[in-house]
Amino acid sequence: PATRPFQRPLPIPPVLAPVRSDGEADYYEITQKPGVAHLLPGLTTPIWGYNGIFPGPTIEARSGRKTIIRQMNDLPVPVSTHLHGGHTPPSSDGHPMDFLLPVDPSPFQASLTDGQMKQFMSPSGLGRSLHMHMQQSKEYVYPNTQRATTLWYHDHRMDFTGAQVYRGLAGFYLIRDKIEDELPLPKGDHEIPLMLTDRSFNADGSFFYPSLDPTLKTTPGVLGKYYNGMIGDTLLVNGAVQPFLEVSATKYRFRLLNASNARVYQLELSSRQSFVQIGSDGGLLPAPAARQTIRISPAERFDVIVDFSQYPVGSQIVLKNLLGEGQTTDIMRFDVVRRAKDDSLIPKTLAPFEALNPANASVTRTFQFFYGLGMWTINGQYFDPNRTDATPRLGATEIWEFTSDGNHPIHLHLVNFQVLSRDGRAPDPEDTGYKDTIFLKAGEKARVIARFEDYRGLYVFHCHNAEHEDMRMMGQFEVM
Ligand code: C2O
Ligand code: CU
Repeated sequence: PATRPFQRPLPIPPVLAPVRSDGEADYYEITQKPGVAHLLPGLTTPIWGYNGIFPGPTIEARSGRKTIIRQMNDLPVPVSTHLHGGHTPPSSDGHPMDFLLPVDPSPFQASLTDGQMKQFMSPSGLGRSLHMHMQQSKEYVYPNTQRATTLWYHDHRMDFTGAQVYRGLAGFYLIRDKIEDELPLPKGDHEIPLMLTDRSFNADGSFFYPSLDPTLKTTPGVLGKYYNGMIGDTLLVNGAVQPFLEVSATKYRFRLLNASNARVYQLELSSRQSFVQIGSDGGLLPAPAARQTIRISPAERFDVIVDFSQYPVGSQIVLKNLLGEGQTTDIMRFDVVRRAKDDSLIPKTLAPFEALNPANASVTRTFQFFYGLGMWTINGQYFDPNRTDATPRLGATEIWEFTSDGNHPIHLHLVNFQVLSRDGRAPDPEDTGYKDTIFLKAGEKARVIARFEDYRGLYVFHCHNAEHEDMRMMGQFEVM
């Protein structure tokens, strides 16, 4: 259904309160369950959500203080919850086969213990046995020993990530620290997370997703015409269709996240004024950088300041998607409704940045992301839980080189990397800072550098086009 833009105020996902706190940790409980969203006029949309809402509740964490989340599964299918961008021990990382079982686990238990899962359960390497949680609830322990930044948590169930995230299993996870606290950046209601997603709808208001098995219980995969990824025809921000936000004529900080399955956006303000980028996937940049436009691929985050002070009350500024067509060109609108005093500043320097030195890299590994075998492959192979594709040594610095036959946003668990080059030239502006996802276009070759620190064990890396990921464009590395 076509919808009129800018009819609904931007929702802000609620910040979850801990069920308790002690000297070292804050404890949370989340139940993954069905819910109902009101996205289209006069219709309801069944969703699956963390605590039954889409987006899920926002978790606020402090660097250096643990967050412990008990996830409970009241959905009819297995789930696995990954903290995207988290520097997390393998047992809490949300490996795609670290299943939380549904209330009625019998069909899944049978298929899992008979097939692949059985082989997977015979541990051939350190860390593997950590992943065998066949249970209905699980405590995830996040040490938060990392910089202030915008992370997000989302479903990562083997073969079904695309379908399950699309139903609503995604939320923000913000880490704050002292360095950030001391900066005079916009705060409070002037600091707003924006989760960009796209969806298509059936006539009854339900989400349209081209699953081969709409129950998500048996056959994975999507109809052939969606092999390139599910692109929705309607844009949502924080779970509302093309919303508006009333702002004062002051600076705002927006934490942009692309939580779409496959859509890439090129952001620009209709006023043609620049965004001032202050952070990327892994935290604050060393210094702010003006960006006329920002390309944001699935799973990437950009932390930006937008200054509305030059606009008279009554101005309307649209956040545009230059890669969109028709109703996917307008993402949301900012309505300047009042003047206000602005104490915030954009400092000249933000946070220390440690550039990794390629001379310290012990290994260069090459990974080719391309279509093959009727699925999406890395180095000509599709994901096999019994195969480890790389074994970095604990503490090692490595260069990973990616080549690509199409649009692939490539993501590594556990680490932040730094982009060294693209096709032998300097990285794109979007590659600046600490990254965990890099967008590659057809024929491109990128080199990134990372240090594999703190945790031994098994992690995945994959294309974050969720349909490519579900069609097995994923590999494993084991930190030894
Ligand atoms: Cu955001 Cu392995 O994923
Ligand atoms: Cu891909």
